[in-house]
Amino acid sequence: MNAEGRSRLDQLPEWQALAAHRKELGDAHLRELFASDPGRGRRLTLQVGDLHLDYSKHLVTDETLRLLRELARATEVAELRDAMFRGKKINTTEDRAALHIALRAPRSAVITVDGKDVVQDVHAVLAKMAVFTDRIRSGDWTGHTGKRIKNIVNIGIGGSDLGPAMAFEALRSYTDRSLTFRFVSNVDGADLHEAVRDLDPAETLFIVASKTFTTIETITNATSARDWLLTGLGAGPEAVAKHFVALSTNAEKVSAFGIDTANMFEFWDWVGGRYSYASAIGLSLMIAIGPDHFREMLAGFHLIDEHFTSAPPEENAPLLMGLLGIWYGNFHDAQSHAVLPYSHYLSQFTAYLQQLDMESNGKSVDRQGEPVSWQTGPVVWGTPGTNGQHAYYQLLHQGTKLIPADLIGFARPVEDLEPGLVPQHDLLMANLFAQGQALAFGKTPEEVAAEGVPPELVAHKTFRGNHPTTTILASELTPSVLGQLVALYEHKVFVQGAVWNIDSFDQWGVELGKVLAKRVEPALTEGATVEGLDPSTEQLVATYRALRGR
Ligand code: F6P
Repeated sequence: MNAEGRSRLDQLPEWQALAAHRKELGDAHLRELFASDPGRGRRLTLQVGDLHLDYSKHLVTDETLRLLRELARATEVAELRDAMFRGKKINTTEDRAALHIALRAPRSAVITVDGKDVVQDVHAVLAKMAVFTDRIRSGDWTGHTGKRIKNIVNIGIGGSDLGPAMAFEALRSYTDRSLTFRFVSNVDGADLHEAVRDLDPAETLFIVASKTFTTIETITNATSARDWLLTGLGAGPEAVAKHFVALSTNAEKVSAFGIDTANMFEFWDWVGGRYSYASAIGLSLMIAIGPDHFREMLAGFHLIDEHFTSAPPEENAPLLMGLLGIWYGNFHDAQSHAVLPYSHYLSQFTAYLQQLDMESNGKSVDRQGEPVSWQTGPVVWGTPGTNGQHAYYQLLHQGTKLIPADLIGFARPVEDLEPGLVPQHDLLMANLFAQGQALAFGKTPEEVAAEGVPPELVAHKTFRGNHPTTTILASELTPSVLGQLVALYEHKVFVQGAVWNIDSFDQWGVELGKVLAKRVEPALTEGATVEGLDPSTEQLVATYRALRGR
């Protein structure tokens, strides 16, 4: 029992029932599960909005799924979900609501935080973003010298970079190709240098994206960008107004940096950084794809929000995906989860999910501050499918680790690739289906031997199979489908955090490194003596200074 009278997760009878069930199932193979239940390939699927989910290739029976839903019931996932959607401050360590769902709520919705309806504020900012977007796209907004803006550089990091950068890539074929977009995040000066070296400052707009407007990487890059701009233009600070806008919750810091707050697009402390790209943080994306496509994307998010709150547990896709992750992480000792999109446009999707999932659920104390005695968030990793096949899939197929994976693909290519040419898209998707099959069913020694393989090679060419996958299919990667996919993963992460009884909306773990970096910097630059450096770091700093000739 904890202070709130809630039993510890691993003491719950529902948890123990799952542990017993896991023992009973033993190493039951997907080959057997399909043989005894041939209908599961059709039955264990869900259609949600435009997303078709096949979860038949999971190491589960109907009983497993029932027990997992019982666990969700016992851990009050639905109650916490409803509290989140009502605007309750479920991020208790920061005393904040987690209301990203309000960012994609229709204008008619009413969602209140501290007695204030936030939906109207959301729509006011969206309208302001749309006006600005139209001014850039039409050429009405010009730079300091009167030249049209042709280049947009988003400067941000974490949630203020990964979301817009991922979505820009995903929706590239919807973008205005006459504009150039760059995303700068790394405090390594090389990032900014490479982003701007071929740009004309007179045609360049910088979007400084930072919720807090204190993040050292972003402020450093923005300061360097301002120097680059003013030097390039040979102008004074008055040129900044036409070339810098800010996306932030912190008007004071924006103003202190020298950006007119009239050119600031606001969002609010109830939007977590990693949940923010549907807010003003998406301005670069809106400029790229236009306000209508941006709204379509928001509608896609909202469709899944509605599904998550209204679908019964048996048909609730985020609930199901969250619970399957718990089944593997907590009852099969899986340490990681692979997300493998069979779409080049989703090349940044897994990187985006890494922050979403690992910053949310990389926690080791529960909501009451007690150490957890169960595994929490997995390591999330992956790259577009066929590239991975020639890199790390060997380990997926024949390594010693259990790595559940999501395979994501689309029936139609986004770009209208000319008919009559090589059917590349069918080949791409054939790979997705083949991998799902090979991972699940493998190849037995008997099958290998029957192919005439010499006996000494049979073991090497055998595929054990039994590697679980979820396949997610949609007809095409549209703005709405992207919104649906992202919301699906957001709520999956939420479900897992709710079951594990952790605060999925704080990120204290990134603080220590930030504090230490600030402390170490003077030792590198000025050779200052820094209190509290451990002997190894002290030695490394001395070596660094010697190598730099200081
Ligand atoms: O990594 C910590 C973090 O606070 C993220 O949660 C956030 O997305 C990122 O830094 C950037 O923060 P900001 O938008 O305030 O610059």
